[in-house]
Amino acid sequence: MKVLILGATGKMGGGMVKALKDSPHQLYALSRDPTSAKAEALKSNGVTVFKGDFDDRDSLDQALSAGIDSVFFTTVPDLQGGDSDLRQTKNIIDAVKAAGVKQLIYGSLAYPGTEEGFKTIHESLEPTNWVKLYFNRKLELDQLVRDSGAQYWTIIRPPSFIQNHVLPETVAFIYPDLPTKHQLKSTFDHSIPQWYADGSEAGKFAAAAVNDPEGLHTKEVKFGAEALTAQEVAEKLSQASGKPITLYQWPEEELKEALMTHPFHITCEIISKMGFDPKIGNAEKYGVKLTPISEWLENNKSGTWLSS
Ligand SMILES: NC(=O)c1ccc[n+]([C@@H]2O[C@H](COP(=O)([O-])OP(=O)(O)OC[C@H]3O[C@@H](n4cnc5c(N)ncnc54)[C@H](OP(=O)(O)O)[C@@H]3O)[C@@H](O)[C@H]2O)c1
Repeated sequence: MKVLILGATGKMGGGMVKALKDSPHQLYALSRDPTSAKAEALKSNGVTVFKGDFDDRDSLDQALSAGIDSVFFTTVPDLQGGDSDLRQTKNIIDAVKAAGVKQLIYGSLAYPGTEEGFKTIHESLEPTNWVKLYFNRKLELDQLVRDSGAQYWTIIRPPSFIQNHVLPETVAFIYPDLPTKHQLKSTFDHSIPQWYADGSEAGKFAAAAVNDPEGLHTKEVKFGAEALTAQEVAEKLSQASGKPITLYQWPEEELKEALMTHPFHITCEIISKMGFDPKIGNAEKYGVKLTPISEWLENNKSGTWLSS
């Protein structure tokens, strides 16, 4: 099969390339900068990389004209509240439809909490609440995929990425005090666990869908490697970094401020109210082995604050 991976220089798409690079499938990617180090790495793995942009329909049509059978995509939400992810998802799905691509695989997210907890809390939020708008958008994108008319579609639902605690761009935004003050400032309820995984492992499930389009058709694959409390995350970060990471106890005023201004902290606080679902998809059923969190941290600390 000819497989076009949109987002191949990113975590989920990159994981999919890794899972398929030694398969008989021909891999294609699209990047805004095909000369970047990540795009060059794709090429050295035998991936054909097109220059393009999800906002540029012609570039999508051009990539799809290679006779693509299967498309994976994910889009990045605009944390300022813009609608680029909606616009880009529509663009991608329209291009996929026009090219008559058989299979569409979408890298979405796992809705947090229990099914009932998510529904109740989500419904209770004010229409202008940031978290309500964020999840509304994700629900809308999921529906666009289900309604895409693709012969086969699959939605992959990863939990929180453990990368959020490690990669410079996310650490700077979410946990700026981790590398310097060794404090984990989490607004998750400290007694409620959350599911985590290496985000790139979403790509393993996407690869499973390429290998079995019919079997994974209409499947919405939820997975998680480990359920951890904030304290357990801090312990794993301490172990990997060799530094004592403490769980920050927010002073009341500072917490109030964070819950009014920081999209990630606002989201985590609300997510905790959605409860915890101990049941999670069975990865083995899809032939996927998930990496334990400590192992991932140990193998990926080079070049990050964990090893500085
Ligand atoms: N972080 C979490 O905890 C978490 C958990 C569950 C789900 N998610 C979801 O994961 C998704 C992001 O996936 P990811 O983390 O795998 O992505 P990522 O690592 O942030 O990479 C983004 C990818 O999208 C491509 N891209 C972005 N804008 C583009 C554009 N305009 N045109 C063409 N390509 C574009 C980038 O390619 P180039 O730069 O090469 O162009 C890159 O390959 C989001 O929807 C997020 O909601 C995140």
